[in-house]
Amino acid sequence: MKQVLKVKIGDEKKYNIEISDDGFEKLNQALGEITKGQRRLVVISKKVYDLYIDDLDFDDDEIFILKDGEREKNIKNYLKIMECAIQRGLTRKDVIIAVGGGVVGDLAGFAASTYMRGIDFIQVPTTLLSAVDSSVGGKTAIDLKEAKNIIGSFYQPKAVFININFLETLDDRQYMSGLGEVLKYAFIEDSCKYPNPLYLFEFLTLGCDKILEKEPITIIRMIEYCLNLKIAVVNQDEKEGGLRKILNFGHTLAHALETITKYKKYTHGEAVVYGMFFIIQWAYEKQYITYSYYRLSMELLEKYGFEPLEAKYPVEKLVGIMKKDKKAGSDKITFIIPTDKKKVGEIQLAPEDVEKMFE
Ligand code: GLY
Repeated sequence: MKQVLKVKIGDEKKYNIEISDDGFEKLNQALGEITKGQRRLVVISKKVYDLYIDDLDFDDDEIFILKDGEREKNIKNYLKIMECAIQRGLTRKDVIIAVGGGVVGDLAGFAASTYMRGIDFIQVPTTLLSAVDSSVGGKTAIDLKEAKNIIGSFYQPKAVFININFLETLDDRQYMSGLGEVLKYAFIEDSCKYPNPLYLFEFLTLGCDKILEKEPITIIRMIEYCLNLKIAVVNQDEKEGGLRKILNFGHTLAHALETITKYKKYTHGEAVVYGMFFIIQWAYEKQYITYSYYRLSMELLEKYGFEPLEAKYPVEKLVGIMKKDKKAGSDKITFIIPTDKKKVGEIQLAPEDVEKMFE
């Protein structure tokens, strides 16, 4: 089965996203066709390399292997990729391909966006998290020790190939992390202004068992629904001037939790789930949402085995991190909060009011 989604941002930026469960020979063929006549540099995650290199049609000398983990998304690796591109003789007409999760995609995408002022870039996401979020929408970045994603660009890929066979070897924790981002879309669907209702909330509620079993057709549909919503949002607001902020539902607390634990304790999706539990609870207490929607929301998250955060962190430190978050834009801290069933809105709170949220 293959689904093709079309992205069109403005008049110039158009690309296809293919989601399929075809064998890897089809992926090789598609990559071969789309990069015909181009020199390629393939930035590939070490784990994916170890598991799949025999299935993938890449030459040894076009491969750059990247160790796994957020810490690898650094300036040293960025420079190494640049040097590798120079050594391989890549010109402006050539292409960088990212094969891996969000770290590989963000780093390789940033390299592609800056090498010779920008060359073609293709995403082959191999984790659920990168398939439903980071591989689509054009955010690329590297981290400095002071801040995550602090250097980056908006740079749309030429194509995205999602082959769900890669998910078979994804460990349970990483799969659940991806589901954290998937669940986010259920809470924001009606604010994405996608023209037709997708009923993602209901789909995720009813399809839970099949999704947890990684049933291929259900997984393809689930990724398709999430990306339809993401594309709708990015089409309206590529550079996060407004609407795109809704994709950060659950993320204000999530980023603070990831930072305070130095990215070692929680996966990104786990942190987002804690952020969603927190903000849904708060929105209910402040009467932004009804009791029945609050319960439905909690039940959806709990159905997937998620629970609210139990660990406690110093509130002033969490709020201090939120203040530094580059998305804040002012002295205030931005939260995306639920306002109605499947709808969210933005609020800005003063740091002292955020401290009160934790009481
Ligand atoms: N990951 C959120 C976004 O792409 O805007």
